[in-house]
Amino acid sequence: MSGSPKPVKKVPIHLQSAQNRVYIKNGQVVNHDRTFKADVYIEDGIIKFVGPASDITVPGGVRTIDASGKLILPGGIDPHTHFQLKFGGQVSVDDFYKGTRAAVAGGTTTIIDFVLPNKGESLLDAYDTWRSWADGKVCCDYAFHVGLTWWSKSVSNEMKTLCEEHGINSFKMFMAYKGLYQLNDTEMLEALERIKELNGVAMVHAENGDIIARNVNKLLKAGVTGPEGHELSRQEEVEAEAVNRACVLAHQSKVPLYVSKATSKLSAEVIGRAKRSGYCVFGETLASSIGKCMNGVKKSQQLYYITSPPIREPAETPRQLMKSLAYDDLQTTGSDNCTFNCSQKESGLNDFSKIPNGVNGVEDRMSIVWEKGVHAGLLDPCRFVAITSTNAAKIFNLYPQKGRIAAGSDADVLIWDPNQTRKISKETHHHACDFNIFEGMVCHGVPEMVLVRGRVCVENGQVRVAEGFGRFLETPVNPPFVYDALNGKTNGEEEEVAVNGNMKKLNINEQLEI
Ligand code: URP
Ligand code: ZN
Ligand code: ZN
Repeated sequence: MSGSPKPVKKVPIHLQSAQNRVYIKNGQVVNHDRTFKADVYIEDGIIKFVGPASDITVPGGVRTIDASGKLILPGGIDPHTHFQLKFGGQVSVDDFYKGTRAAVAGGTTTIIDFVLPNKGESLLDAYDTWRSWADGKVCCDYAFHVGLTWWSKSVSNEMKTLCEEHGINSFKMFMAYKGLYQLNDTEMLEALERIKELNGVAMVHAENGDIIARNVNKLLKAGVTGPEGHELSRQEEVEAEAVNRACVLAHQSKVPLYVSKATSKLSAEVIGRAKRSGYCVFGETLASSIGKCMNGVKKSQQLYYITSPPIREPAETPRQLMKSLAYDDLQTTGSDNCTFNCSQKESGLNDFSKIPNGVNGVEDRMSIVWEKGVHAGLLDPCRFVAITSTNAAKIFNLYPQKGRIAAGSDADVLIWDPNQTRKISKETHHHACDFNIFEGMVCHGVPEMVLVRGRVCVENGQVRVAEGFGRFLETPVNPPFVYDALNGKTNGEEEEVAVNGNMKKLNINEQLEI
């Protein structure tokens, strides 16, 4: 048979207009579970082919990109943003256009923002308001979590409508912000049970709001009015206590829990321990917490870094959080992007409790995680993909439409240069804000090209997004990744326990049925 060509499987390609078709050759594809050399062919915003060049016949007129020496990654998914959020009497300056433009510039092609109703406001009305702010402005695809910022029978009823008719599967409860968003434990238990009935995902902002409120009063009375009062009022154990309580409340309610923004080593340990005990819990940390610590930040600058839970003081915290991501104690990275201009932050100059909370991160998250994770030798590229994209897609039920380079997935694709560096600066960032908490940081790992559903939005250092190009993504309830874990199909452990005098093997998650 020598000399005769090997039969190859040809993929039929329909001839369509050239700008809809992109062929990326000679790259190294990285998914969360494996990495391999392959070419990628995209048509009409969808990945049509991933495999060896010999298996595809590419029509003429297709845009061809040579990715030799580069990695081909799924676009980043930031599961935690707040664009144009009204908070503390101020509105965050990155709106859905500027915010998603900054996201795309940094290699994030999907964001999940939060609908946060006012106290007493209908969740459905708030959802409509947020949709009206986002649709028509977003440059990449997006979804919503909905905040349970107050609790009542009508809230409970509307949750069902949101799940069944509006593509919502995740609800966030605040254990902090007393008098604003905070729920008490009884309300949380009722909300958790409702989320379970709906097969949704429970999320928490975990800090003990009662302790914080008391500490804020004490500190202000004692004359501590500067930004140092922020962290003093909400130290690591105040966060870790709430994380632990949330894990227990969720476990009692048999509902999957997603802990938003663990910013301390202690909280990451609590989440890891809960996971190893069979609790169905997922943990997120933030670009701000792995890229920065407060050690060394001048007192006069501290107010610009205020966010909750705080960016922590210890110099070792960023590396410890990165290790938690590497060991799967934590699963995702978000940004909690909620940006304010310096003048807005300065409204709290004489009272730290009035500083609007929030910092940037949606643009720099991918490069920071690469720098502190892969470049620092703590993560391999597959784990990078898992914690910046795939895990969020799985938890919120967007996978494999998002979070994977595979035939059939959306063509949210990065051509990633691991060797290129970039210096972060407010002079060059794409945010609306006039401050960048990572100012001057040099990161390896640059998204040389960013494709959003097949549309080339970043190339040659230029960002060319299309306002309104993004689509709202429905997140269906019952995400298999989450509910398989909850039902013990993936991480539940069996134990021998006595049931009515007889020993029985039970999954750890089922024991409370006894
Ligand atoms: O501190 C922050 N990030 N403010 C936004 C609201 C929240 O807590 O998520
Ligand atoms: Zn929060
Ligand atoms: Zn947030």
